[in-house]
Amino acid sequence: MREVASVAELRDVLEAARREGSTIGFVPTMGYLHAGHLSLVERAASECDLVLASIFVNPLQFGIGEDLDAYPRDLAGDRESAERAGVDVLFVPSTAEMYPEPVATTVTVAGVSERFEGASRPTHFAGVATVVAKLFSLSGPCRAYFGEKDFQQVAVVRRMVSDLSIPVEVVACPTVREDDGLAMSSRNAYLDPAQRAAAPVLHRALSVGEQMIREGVTHADEVRVAMTEVVAAEPLAELDYLEVVDPVALEPVGPIRVLADRPVRLLGAVRIGATRLLDNVGTVVPAEAGR
Ligand code: PAF
Repeated sequence: MREVASVAELRDVLEAARREGSTIGFVPTMGYLHAGHLSLVERAASECDLVLASIFVNPLQFGIGEDLDAYPRDLAGDRESAERAGVDVLFVPSTAEMYPEPVATTVTVAGVSERFEGASRPTHFAGVATVVAKLFSLSGPCRAYFGEKDFQQVAVVRRMVSDLSIPVEVVACPTVREDDGLAMSSRNAYLDPAQRAAAPVLHRALSVGEQMIREGVTHADEVRVAMTEVVAAEPLAELDYLEVVDPVALEPVGPIRVLADRPVRLLGAVRIGATRLLDNVGTVVPAEAGR
């Protein structure tokens, strides 16, 4: 594995690979790699000739008072696991390398950025879209792999890529979970043992909603109420949102059956102590409900 810290060297390495006809798979991360990240690397390695991963804790996507300074970091451990999983080029730029001057150009994706995470963290998705646009400008044409755990982030990136005709194919990969259902996330490291025991409540709630839809419930309100009751029963969890949404526009839906050809997604976020946890699950609408 080759580690690269500068934009110029990254461009050289990737240009040389492209000249030899190699296809590039790109896994952008903020480090503190877990099995979810490594599954993206493995998928990229199985589909592309060269795997590029980046580790950059992007200050633009953290709001004032958020956990930028406390964000977990373990570069030595990340190097080892990235290499073992199949990363060929690891891009680890400094903040000065990525943003040599105060950033004057930002990317805002209207609509899909505004609800849910966007409502709780108003500057977050502009920070994500800006850094991902910059990373894609550095990577050039490639397939880029993102975890579905951050479902809204994937929708924002897809919309940006489409609107700006960026020559990158966005590949969304299934969420990797702990045995008790908790979606893997670098921020799970913040949970103390009691909070960790409470954390699977979000996935439990979403699974209740998914089961109701599979059994034919077609009123999104009923599903929302049932999911909310599951979270309300866990004293350590404070609900942010639980919603039934269209999977592309991320708009809440009313009747579920109208969208049978575009299965609705269940999205949720809870706060446990100071930690916000996100999760989502897909649904399969029973055939008879979609007619
Ligand atoms: O999901 C993440 O780790 C980050 O939001 C990303 C996509 C690497 C941009 O900083």
